[in-house]
Amino acid sequence: MPSYRPPKIASSEITPRQLYLRRREFLGAAALGAMALYGAGKASAAALSAVGSKYKVDEKPTPLKDVTTYNNFYEFGLDKADPAANSGDFKPLPWTVKVDGMVNKPGTFDLEALMKEFPIEERTYRMRCVEAWSMVIPWDGFPLASLLDKVEPLGSAKYVAFETVVRPDEMPGQKGFFQSLDWPYVEGLRLDEARHPLTLLAVGLYGETLPNQNGAPIRLVVPWKYGFKGIKSIVRMTLTDQQPKNTWQVTNPQEYGFYANVNPAVDHPRWSQASERRIGESGFFGASRHPTLPFNGYADEVAGLYAGMDLKANF
Ligand code: MTE
Repeated sequence: MPSYRPPKIASSEITPRQLYLRRREFLGAAALGAMALYGAGKASAAALSAVGSKYKVDEKPTPLKDVTTYNNFYEFGLDKADPAANSGDFKPLPWTVKVDGMVNKPGTFDLEALMKEFPIEERTYRMRCVEAWSMVIPWDGFPLASLLDKVEPLGSAKYVAFETVVRPDEMPGQKGFFQSLDWPYVEGLRLDEARHPLTLLAVGLYGETLPNQNGAPIRLVVPWKYGFKGIKSIVRMTLTDQQPKNTWQVTNPQEYGFYANVNPAVDHPRWSQASERRIGESGFFGASRHPTLPFNGYADEVAGLYAGMDLKANF
């Protein structure tokens, strides 16, 4: 495990103070926002608490130090400690996200404006990396569905393709002799997966602005899928009727597929997926192990999306 190295600039300094404070207000108002939303709709108080429970897990959150120093973000290097060490020059604001393709209302949206428009919710999710380690992370963000509703996808749109920013001058892993991946890093979801209420666009964690190494200023969080689906520093989303490729599938199609649903019954070709090492927790013989759950414990919510599909073939 790498030793803790704080980011070169605290996230509270990267973000203009105004936005930082306003975001704190948002985070505080999140619960009220959710109440108002449900109050206006048909859902009863019982339904609200049922929804709320999906967004919390009854497990201890992974210490902030581990969440921010044990990362995968190849734009900043290959080692788990590299993103924290090498992302200090990355400038996450101002930021825009372009949403285009098969939609009625394409647009380029300013992130700060989106954060005023959509209430920021806190959601603690179990996260499972394809490398058989896991964390529990309190994210702050808004549902991807909110942004998709705004652009009005056409009835013929079936998928969302995502793209990470390309800035070799700020992302040392994107330049130089050794190119680990093809840039930009890309990802994709089926539209029903993208619209699922669990699917979040995160702008913070632990009540603070998202650190650069975790995908500032906006990244995807899909808790029932392997972590690589959680594309970071998103600048573009394109609605399409063609299944998008993702970076790991392009890099190694034998080992990584489109779906990447967490599945303890389907091993990675080079290792078992039946259990996972929980980062930041120590057991008797090193890091404690947890059994891996189908759909990472979110089967009740999402298994229906894949009814009738062969989950071994669609890995
Ligand atoms: N997004 C980009 N742009 N580049 C990356 O290298 N790595 C992915 C995913 N998103 C990656 C990315 C992988 S493999 C994982 S496990 C998660 O980010 C890690 O997120 P975390 O560092 O916040 O835990």
